[in-house]
Amino acid sequence: MAGNRTFTMIKPDAVENGHIGAILEQITASGFRIVAMKLTQMTTRDAEEFYSVHKERPFFGELVEFMTRGPIVAAILEKDNAVEDFRTLIGATNPEEAAEGTIRKKFATSIGENAVHGSDSDENAKIEGDFHFAGREQF
Ligand code: PPS
Repeated sequence: MAGNRTFTMIKPDAVENGHIGAILEQITASGFRIVAMKLTQMTTRDAEEFYSVHKERPFFGELVEFMTRGPIVAAILEKDNAVEDFRTLIGATNPEEAAEGTIRKKFATSIGENAVHGSDSDENAKIEGDFHFAGREQF
């Protein structure tokens, strides 16, 4: 059965470009409830751990540098079929391939700086949410 929670980050590019409000509006208008949320900045160690599954990929260093260069908004979101529906809402990793109206199509600038993260499985949604939020911060 599909789970009802996912984890997201509004990435440094979208924060720098002033898109926090518009992105949160699109997320909540699409039926997601915010279960936890904060403005925070990841350290290099945080980002290396968070993205450790990608550590052998050629862009790993670039990804860690990007994700630590400024604040992000981290959030846990709730909705039926949350992981899949959220990935549909944000669109393809590469904004050039993202469908019209998706968050990445509207707000991302490149494959490296693509505005938002969305968990890719129920298992990772739980791991990633717990990475950023203590149990008492999850409503
Ligand atoms: S996904 O969502 O896991 O299927 O996407 P994937 O293509 O495997 O990418 C994993 C994360 O790496 C980021 N990425 C990149 N960063 C910098 N440069 C390049 N070329 C690049 N390609 C992919 C991508 O945005 C994913 O980050 P998250 O935070 O999961 O969206």
